[in-house]
Amino acid sequence: MQGSVYSVPYADNYFNAVTCRFAVHHFRQPERAFAEMLRLTAPGGRIVLCDGLASDEPAKAAAFNAMERLRDPSTVSFRTLDYLRGLFLSAGLGEPEVRLFQVSYLAADLVRGSFPEGDDRDALLALIEASAEGDTLGMRATRTNDGVCVAYPSAVLSAFRAG
Ligand SMILES: C[S@@+](CC[C@H](N)C(=O)[O-])C[C@H]1O[C@@H](n2cnc3c(N)ncnc32)[C@H](O)[C@@H]1O
Repeated sequence: MQGSVYSVPYADNYFNAVTCRFAVHHFRQPERAFAEMLRLTAPGGRIVLCDGLASDEPAKAAAFNAMERLRDPSTVSFRTLDYLRGLFLSAGLGEPEVRLFQVSYLAADLVRGSFPEGDDRDALLALIEASAEGDTLGMRATRTNDGVCVAYPSAVLSAFRAG
């Protein structure tokens, strides 16, 4: 079924596990989406959130989000790990279990599979490759013999709803 994350057509407590993967950065109201996930999770059930992370350094986070909005105009904002953790804490779920990982790409491959504004892939690739100097996007951009490699810092956060 397809529908809005803010209004999922199932009864309260309907699912034993509710997951949301690589979508929060598209949400204008993550708190509202998280409240809906919680509503759908049965007592004793698990709630799992997975997404890419913005850097804790505000300048890098801003540059990363500007690049991502260019790369995929449907992006609202990647949030920091602390922000995502805060969704669990504010909802009374306690400290979530956090697993960090990264999703790596050759920048040229990433750009090839993207739909940048104005279809300007050359400018997008140049922007990403330039971040190798000083890691300005927080993507650990590294020059290799094959070209610039980047990694999306990502996390899976999960917690159980009290039974
Ligand atoms: C990057 S894709 C991830 C898809 C899938 N969850 C995965 O992990 O492969 C982001 C998804 O979020 C969905 N999405 C974005 N905003 C949404 C909203 N407000 N309500 C429901 N789905 C939304 C999009 O339709 C898209 O399928």
